[in-house]
Amino acid sequence: MKIVVIGGSGLIGSRLVKLLTEAGHEALAASPRTGVNAVTGEGLNDALADADVVVDVTNAPSWEPQAVLDFFRTSARNLGKAEVAAGVRHHVALSIVGCERTPENAYFVAKVAQEEVIEAAGVPYTIVRATQFMEFIGGIADFGTEGGTVRLGDGLFQPIAADDVAAALSQVALGAPLNGTVEIAGPDRAPFAEIVGRYLKSAGDPRPVVTDPDARYYGGRVEEQSLVPLGEARIGRISLDQWLAQANKG
Ligand SMILES: NC(=O)c1ccc[n+]([C@@H]2O[C@H](COP(=O)([O-])OP(=O)(O)OC[C@H]3O[C@@H](n4cnc5c(N)ncnc54)[C@H](OP(=O)(O)O)[C@@H]3O)[C@@H](O)[C@H]2O)c1
Repeated sequence: MKIVVIGGSGLIGSRLVKLLTEAGHEALAASPRTGVNAVTGEGLNDALADADVVVDVTNAPSWEPQAVLDFFRTSARNLGKAEVAAGVRHHVALSIVGCERTPENAYFVAKVAQEEVIEAAGVPYTIVRATQFMEFIGGIADFGTEGGTVRLGDGLFQPIAADDVAAALSQVALGAPLNGTVEIAGPDRAPFAEIVGRYLKSAGDPRPVVTDPDARYYGGRVEEQSLVPLGEARIGRISLDQWLAQANKG
């Protein structure tokens, strides 16, 4: 099967291309560095020729509200058009658990817009919504740091390892389109501050972590259930402790 991974050089995309290739498929890593740009449309038609499946794991270079909205809306529209023309039979996209629950978070708003374009594009699709990646916890800590203290909202957190995200996407890409959404999350669910605190401790980072109900997560207030699956979710195999042990080796 020919599977085009748009964003195939990224954190998730590179892992996915490797898994699909190891499983015997023709997996094409497509992104600006290989001459394929989902925003301008450059190289899309050539990349999608004879493709069975397209997986979109792109990320926006700027998270400024208008820029990120334009990125996800325009790239989803261009992909939809190119996929219809190429006869692609399954579009898979990676989105975020709960992105519709925090409308003050501009990045989440852009992901909701991306999902809406996909649903209307006329290509059979599956949207995979993941919780935050374990690889992203350090960035979250940095974003929440004020005067040397990490301030985080009052919600629950259930991060997933990038390897588990790639494995789930691979399974979905090789299956039939659901014309719907599946959710994936890591095995550990705990308060936001507890998980980030475990991460910092294991990295030998002395920053204290405090729960502050007024703290914003990329502009949005995190309520108890903002970031975790509310219903059925596929659960990754890699626990936070396993991931931390591995991360601290390298
Ligand atoms: N971080 C989280 O916790 C989290 C949680 C759930 C879902 N997600 C979603 O996961 C997705 C992938 O994230 P990631 O961390 O793997 O991203 P990443 O490592 O930042 O990689 C981004 C990829 O997008 C490509 N790209 C950028 N502009 C492009 C364009 N105009 N056309 C085509 N490709 C373009 C990049 O290509 P080049 O290398 O060529 O520039 C790169 O391959 C995102 O959509 C994000 O919303 C993230």
